[in-house]
Amino acid sequence: MSDGEVIRTLIQSHRSIRRFKSEPVPQYIIDDLVESARWAPSSHNVQAYSIICIRDQDTKKNLQELCGNQSYIGQCPVFFVFVMDFYRHALVSERHDSAFEVEEVENLLVGAVDTALASENFLLAARSYGLGGVMIGGIRNQAAEVARLLKLPEWTVPVMGMCIGYPGQDPWQKPRIGREAIYHEEHYETHNLEQHLEAYEKTSAEYYWKRTNGQRIDSWSSQMASYFAVKRRAELTDFIKKQGFPLK
Ligand SMILES: Cc1cc2nc3c(=O)[nH]c(=O)nc-3n(C[C@H](O)[C@H](O)[C@H](O)COP(=O)(O)O)c2cc1C
Repeated sequence: MSDGEVIRTLIQSHRSIRRFKSEPVPQYIIDDLVESARWAPSSHNVQAYSIICIRDQDTKKNLQELCGNQSYIGQCPVFFVFVMDFYRHALVSERHDSAFEVEEVENLLVGAVDTALASENFLLAARSYGLGGVMIGGIRNQAAEVARLLKLPEWTVPVMGMCIGYPGQDPWQKPRIGREAIYHEEHYETHNLEQHLEAYEKTSAEYYWKRTNGQRIDSWSSQMASYFAVKRRAELTDFIKKQGFPLK
């Protein structure tokens, strides 16, 4: 396979891994994952993220509870927290005796996007070493407690966690929404969307049915309907404001 094919195969064979071998992840590999994260593109080159590596079992157990008791956080050999981070920028602005404007939603998006891009680079690099992982949005369940535990300064928000380790499972690949539904040419197209969604309904229902030997009757649209039926992490807004972002 050419280098390009190897990279595309790696990207297109993505599956979240939630069970791990106990084998530790060597520090030289972690250093290289951080190096890969550092080379993610960044809006205005602000590089508004930090990565916290957690190996301590007590801290992982605490985080497991704070993230909705997701057992794989305690079970993975190493856990990472990806933090949207404007602390450095506040310092730099102060040093330049310059205003520090993060009132608008814009910089929140800038920071969240930067953090996400660094995270995905990190995960792909991990997979290139035969590691697997899962991102953990549950880190925002109790963001204020996470911030206390990890001593996060102002201007920072934990955006996602990531369990990393050598895979102890070989899960099926979860089907994605069809290309026809997400790809548009020249302008946004709603034509035939119902049809494309119906096709995904069948694929996703079949996936859950087959994966569970007929035990789980589920589909993407029913998952989305229940996901959006309730307000999520309402207290996160207050936490973000407390961290220094007025969200005007
Ligand atoms: C930002 C983000 C947060 C996520 N948070 C969680 C989480 O808290 N717990 C979990 O088990 N999976 C989490 N996931 C994994 C998704 O559930 C998973 O990517 C999705 O179901 C698709 O499955 P796949 O990654 O195996 O293809 C998260 C994924 C992303 C991108």
